[in-house]
Amino acid sequence: MGRLDGSVIEPVGADLVALAQAYALDVTVFPHSSLPVVFGLDLPPVLFVARAERGGPVVGFVGLRAKDDVLEICGLAVDPAHRRTGLGRALLKAALRSARQRGFARVALQVSTGNAAAIVLYESEGFRRAARLAGFYSPQRFPDGGDAWRMVRRARL
Ligand SMILES: CC(C)(COP(=O)(O)OP(=O)(O)OC[C@H]1O[C@@H](n2cnc3c(N)ncnc32)[C@H](O)[C@@H]1OP(=O)(O)O)[C@@H](O)C(=O)NCCC(=O)NCCS
Repeated sequence: MGRLDGSVIEPVGADLVALAQAYALDVTVFPHSSLPVVFGLDLPPVLFVARAERGGPVVGFVGLRAKDDVLEICGLAVDPAHRRTGLGRALLKAALRSARQRGFARVALQVSTGNAAAIVLYESEGFRRAARLAGFYSPQRFPDGGDAWRMVRRARL
């Protein structure tokens, strides 16, 4: 697959089909679902989705929520069949753009210490490891024991 040819990143509001597709991807990709915490908050947009082509199904998402002056990334995922084409980075950049437009000072997230692919992506976009959170995830579901990195960057570098 080419890199980002014709792909689309867009905010999701009340598009129930897109929401259902994002939820389906969420439960497939993560041992713990990441999206439910995103909804019920009055701070749109809380979810951006990626489509490989305009009008096609959702193949990626990034979920967001606000905590004081920090925009938290709750979940970032791309369908395995569409990885390494730039969608993960494009979703992350959409989240960073949204943080700047909405005046957040920082953007933060938690990522499993064993998730090398995601850590490389986050570091390449300016995130730094701020703290190691022991047992943050369920150790039964994460082979490396469930530790997470808290990663943070300023919304504007
Ligand atoms: C992490 C994830 C979202 C990346 O999505 P993606 O669409 O494949 O990412 P991109 O194609 O935009 O790649 C961005 C960069 O991430 C890094 N990267 C992505 N996958 C990688 C891998 N398997 N190994 C090493 N580096 C990787 C690379 O630096 C890559 O840049 P490059 O392609 O120019 O080398 C995707 O692998 C995923 O959904 N993983 C499962 C869910 C997850 O772990 N989410 C993050 C939890 S906080």
